[in-house]
Amino acid sequence: MKRVITYGTFDLFHSGHVKLLARLRFLGDELIVGLSSDEFNHIKGKKSIYTYEQRKEILEACRYVDKVFPERCWEQKKEDIIREGAHVFAMGDDWTGEFDYLNEIADVIYLPRTPSISTTDIKTFIAMEHQDRKQQALNTLRKLEKMISSI
Ligand code: CTP
Repeated sequence: MKRVITYGTFDLFHSGHVKLLARLRFLGDELIVGLSSDEFNHIKGKKSIYTYEQRKEILEACRYVDKVFPERCWEQKKEDIIREGAHVFAMGDDWTGEFDYLNEIADVIYLPRTPSISTTDIKTFIAMEHQDRKQQALNTLRKLEKMISSI
């Protein structure tokens, strides 16, 4: 049984996440995900839209994921790899080089990220849409005010 382990926040689950998880799953027989807790996200300077429990529920519903456990700090990876019996430690290539120190206990692999999609992009898009709609509503309001004052 070859186990693969990965880590991340996986907020606003998107197709880049699915593609990564599918590729990771087929590097072995089981895929285990260390999912960043809300507290750890805070330490990393991230604030997720979905809570840890919601992100866990979504990840567990993904056919490529066999197990999800909390990632609470940077230092726990060695212990996790040993406890979970993982043979492969794999991440997207935005992390290239960061986890090479784990090579002594697992095969460390970095896979290319899917281009043009990220949680940050989705958040930015929604924020811009919100801003556009707010501006449109304000323009309409101003036109109405002018019409009313001219009566
Ligand atoms: N990932 C990927 N392709 C993408 C986005 C993410 O392969 N387009 C991978 C990352 O490299 C990481 C995992 O998915 O190994 C979880 O990444 P995460 O940081 O949760 O997702 P992002 O969309 O990158 O989120 P953010 O924009 O908040 O960094």
